[in-house]
Formats: sequence, C-alpha cells, structure tokens
Amino acid sequence: MTALPPFDRARFAIPDLPDADALLPYLRRIDENRWYSNFGPLVQEFEARFSAAMAAAHRAARARPFVTMASGYYALSLGLRLLSVGPKSRVLVPAVTFPACPLAPQNLGAEAVLADVDPESWTLTPAIARAVIARHKIDAVMPVCVYGFPLDAQAWDSFEKETGVPVLIDAAAAIEVQRYPARGIVAHSLHALKPFGIGEGGVLALPNEALARRARQATNFGMKDRRTFAGGENAKMSEYHAAVALAQMDRWETVKRRRKDVLDLYLAALAPLGAAARAHPMLAQTIPSAMMIRLEGRKGQATAKALCARGVAAHRLYLPPLYDHPHFARLRRIDARGKAAGRLDGAESMNASVIGLPFHPFMAEEDVQKTVDALASLL
Ligand SMILES: Cc1ncc(COP(=O)(O)O)c(C=O)c1O
Repeated sequence: MTALPPFDRARFAIPDLPDADALLPYLRRIDENRWYSNFGPLVQEFEARFSAAMAAAHRAARARPFVTMASGYYALSLGLRLLSVGPKSRVLVPAVTFPACPLAPQNLGAEAVLADVDPESWTLTPAIARAVIARHKIDAVMPVCVYGFPLDAQAWDSFEKETGVPVLIDAAAAIEVQRYPARGIVAHSLHALKPFGIGEGGVLALPNEALARRARQATNFGMKDRRTFAGGENAKMSEYHAAVALAQMDRWETVKRRRKDVLDLYLAALAPLGAAARAHPMLAQTIPSAMMIRLEGRKGQATAKALCARGVAAHRLYLPPLYDHPHFARLRRIDARGKAAGRLDGAESMNASVIGLPFHPFMAEEDVQKTVDALASLL
C-alpha cells in the first residue's frame, strides 16, 4: 500500500493512479510480448474490458466499440474527422469549456463557433443548439460534459435525428456517468487529473464497428495495408499506457469510492452555507474530478483570489469564457436565442460566480472542513 500524499493546500488536484507494484504484472507482459504499440495485446484487452465495464454499468443490451487514443484531444479531433469536419465546416462548442474543444475543429481547418451556456446546467443544451442552427450554418455540434456533469444522451440523440446535424459529445471527465446516444460519438479523456487517469490517453465510444474501424485507422495515419486511405494522425495508445489503463481498471471501484467519499464530506461541510455557496446539483451524479460551487452575488473571482492568498488552492477551471482567451477572441459568438452577440450572458454569469475548491481523493474530513471554513470566513 503506497502512503497517501499529505493534504497539500497548494495543489488543487492530486491524481489517483496505480502504483508501480500494480503496474508490474502488466509491464512484465509487455517484456514477454515485445510489442509496444500499434494495436498490441494490452490495448486490445483494455478496449474489451472497458467496453464490457461500461455496458455493465449502463445495463446496456450490447457492448459498444471503443477505440483508444493518445489523448482526449485526439478523441475529439478524430471524432470530428469521422463526422466529415474539415475546411469550411463550422463546429458549435460551448463558450465555457477547455480549449481542446475549439482547438480540435480549428486544427482541422474548420471554424469553431462559440455558443452561450445555459445558466442552470452551465453548458450548451439542445435548445440552445436548435436556436443557433435555425439562424446559422453549423456542420457539427460538440456538447460538453462541463466539470464531468453527464448530458442527456437521449435528448442529443433526438437533436441529431431531427436536425441532421451530427453530434460529438465531449465527455472528457464523465466516464461511466455519461450514457451513450444511439447515433452520436462520445469522447473521454484519461488524463492524469480525470477520474480514470492513466497519465495521457483517451477513448472514443462509437455507435458501430464500421465507424470504430475507421477511427482506429485514423489513429494510425489513415493507413490500411500500408496505404493511406483517409486523413489521420499518429494518435495510437502505446502498450505502456494500456498497462496503466488495465491496472486502473483493476482498481476502478476503489477510485470511484474514494472520490465519492470526499464529495460527500464536501457536501456535508457546505450545507450550512446554504445559497451563499452551493455545489452544482449535478455534482452528486458525477465521479468528481473538480469541486465546483456557485457563490451568491458575483463574488467568484474575488473569493478565489482571497482563498489562494490564504494558501487554499481555489481555482477557476474552464473560466474565463473562451472568448477571453487571446487566441479565441475573434471567434463568432452566438447567444441562447441564436443571435450573434458580444459577451454571452450565461458564460458571464458563470464567470462572475463559479469557483472550484481543491479536490482530490486523499483529502481527509479535516482538510475539507478547513477549506470550507476558509471559504465561510470570506463570505
Ligand atoms: C472538457 C475537456 N475536453 C477535452 C479535454 C482534453 O483532454 P486531454 O487532456 O486528455 O487531451 C479536457 C482536458 O482537461 C477537458 O477538460
């Protein structure tokens, strides 16, 4: 048993990955196989185990194909390729999310268009996307499980069916809690800070084997039988990352329980603060990787700063909105009614009031209480 790292107020998150002892049996298999990349036996075993685990968790009638990737970013990029996104395409992404979301279409030569987020769910909803496509040409939509909050898979499936606009769900942190729509493609991140962390990695959930074959090919330079048939990348997961992924699969139940336990401690500690500092209701439905709260009265930015000054690693994950990043400042922005806009109301409201508290599975009750006490003293 590895010693747990002490609570470190300077770190807003500490990854929970398998230790060297847990990796060793898988590393020995790599030594025996002398196979290090290109769809090796460990990658294949991980994809099969992951697929079975998700089907069991979702009580799904059939296990769906998963293709491993070198990162969550590649899962988004290759997912968009499968939806025929390229130069002249426009992809709708929420204005509050990680930069990977607009970069994935941009790096394919497409235009990323920023949509406002719904003030309740903190993200792009099918209603907002419908309002946007009624007035603007949009070739694909990328809804995002912001902070790991799962989306309504059926609602996005209906959106795709009724509008004909394809959907790629970015469920970076929402592994297991995000259901898979019948049609759409779903991307997950296995970055160290995500609940199913392996260091760097990603997976793409595909609705059928034919698309999974194309995705796999796209991770390997678009090649089949040594000839390139379609655009691609080198986005393959190596056997070493698959070794970590298999070891993480072995301890997934423990990983989830530890995160849920710390979340419960936080929810209990925050309860007396009432509306002054409220956790998002969807947080309870996640396997948390970030402890996001909304503060009353637009006190977010000042409170985060004051907490940091007291040595509490408060943060503003996914904030400010993307249009305040220099590289994205000129992107087209569209409000919740589908109208071209400047600053977006939903995104601005989040920017004013949402902050993250330090969160990791090694926090004890005392650490959580100290953090919440520091917050309470500022409100
Ligand atoms: C919402 C979201 N999408 C995509 C990514 C990119 O994933 P990765 O870091 O695995 O490339 C992240 C990473 O933090 C993310 O938070």
